[in-house]
Amino acid sequence: MTQTQTHTPTKSALPRHDVRDLALAPEGKKRIEWADKDMPVLRAIRERFAKEKPLAGYRMAACLHITTETANLLRALQAGGAEIVACASNPLSTQDDNAASLVKDFGISVYAIKGEDRDTYFRHMNAALDIKPNVTMDDGCDLVSLLHGERKDLAGNIVASMEETTTGVIRLKAMEQQGILKFPAVAVNDAMCKHFFDNRYGTGQSTLDGVIRATDHLIAGKTVVVAGYGYCGKGVASRARGLGGHVVVTEIDPIKAIEAVMDGFQVMSMHEAAAKGDIFITVTGNIHVIREEHFRLMKDGALVCNSGHFDVELDLVALARIATKTHKGLREFVDGYTLPSGHTVMVLGEGRLINLAAAHGHPASVMDMSFAVQALATEWALKNKAGLKPQVYNVPAEIDAWVAKLKLQSMAVNIDTLTPEQVKYLSSHDMGT
Ligand code: ADE
Repeated sequence: MTQTQTHTPTKSALPRHDVRDLALAPEGKKRIEWADKDMPVLRAIRERFAKEKPLAGYRMAACLHITTETANLLRALQAGGAEIVACASNPLSTQDDNAASLVKDFGISVYAIKGEDRDTYFRHMNAALDIKPNVTMDDGCDLVSLLHGERKDLAGNIVASMEETTTGVIRLKAMEQQGILKFPAVAVNDAMCKHFFDNRYGTGQSTLDGVIRATDHLIAGKTVVVAGYGYCGKGVASRARGLGGHVVVTEIDPIKAIEAVMDGFQVMSMHEAAAKGDIFITVTGNIHVIREEHFRLMKDGALVCNSGHFDVELDLVALARIATKTHKGLREFVDGYTLPSGHTVMVLGEGRLINLAAAHGHPASVMDMSFAVQALATEWALKNKAGLKPQVYNVPAEIDAWVAKLKLQSMAVNIDTLTPEQVKYLSSHDMGT
């Protein structure tokens, strides 16, 4: 991984920051504005927030992928009156031009450098927490985790915390169940307008985009093994099939496995799939889904990558241990490992989210819905803070419905409304044939 330079925060009018190079800002600004064109729902929220200032007086720390879509979320929160600091939620997902523009053009404090090492990653999170936030926003629960450990002195200030991912919600619910969660958290991921679209269509498209950008390989005719058939897995499997791949799904959940079978995919164990696959993509949210015994069976040139939240799904420590030779940087985002069989397995993006490491993550149009939910859930939590307890809350259904309605409007799609007769029918029990 690229080592980072450290940047002393400037004493100019710029907010505190640690980014790769402020000279990259003009390109970042163009790309932020480009993404904004495809985020009409978030834009409407930004315009309302600018008038109503519902977040005025709050300090927010956001640990998110520092992409152009996130930039537009941060702009909306800033328009709402919040003081914001952002840090990376993954060492490889930061877009450096975008980070520079957030600091230079939008006056937002950012701590994020693509390729930052582990120490820098944690230093950046700590720098974000140094503003003593009242609200946090996480993509994977890392800030919340720090606020329950090393920085627990700051937990008492937190009014509410927003969580973007399936993985983060699982962590929060585990904390809630163990009775250790110190403040209210909102499961943004679980809103329909988030996981239904972002996890499926966003992960589906951006994952294949990452594999293709990293390798320039053709998908048509390849056997693509997708581990996990949750919303992300469904998206990846369907997009891989759309590009002409023969898709194999592996699962541990019998119901999801049947769903994959009935969706027309081949389902088998990873042990069986290991020798068949040309491309392996993990999206399970679990640890060591592809292990030593699987790597040993793989074809020469097999591509292996992950699009689940953390870089634990591939057992890369085992792979490095059994490899007779490693080939770092065969091209950007590709490392080769030659195995005792003589076959070389190619690992993409160091086993980190391939859609954000080698590509630009989910397209703006789908992040529009996810981040509209984030912004509105934040407003809701602050409005209702007096009644919230240290537990995990779902996003109110009205927020989901509003986001869906506005998204449809932005697409110029009309839908029907119930007639009075239909309303009556749906609320009655005595009308049959
Ligand atoms: N997660 C996946 N894609 C993303 C994007 N484009 N921006 C922020 N977070 C993301």
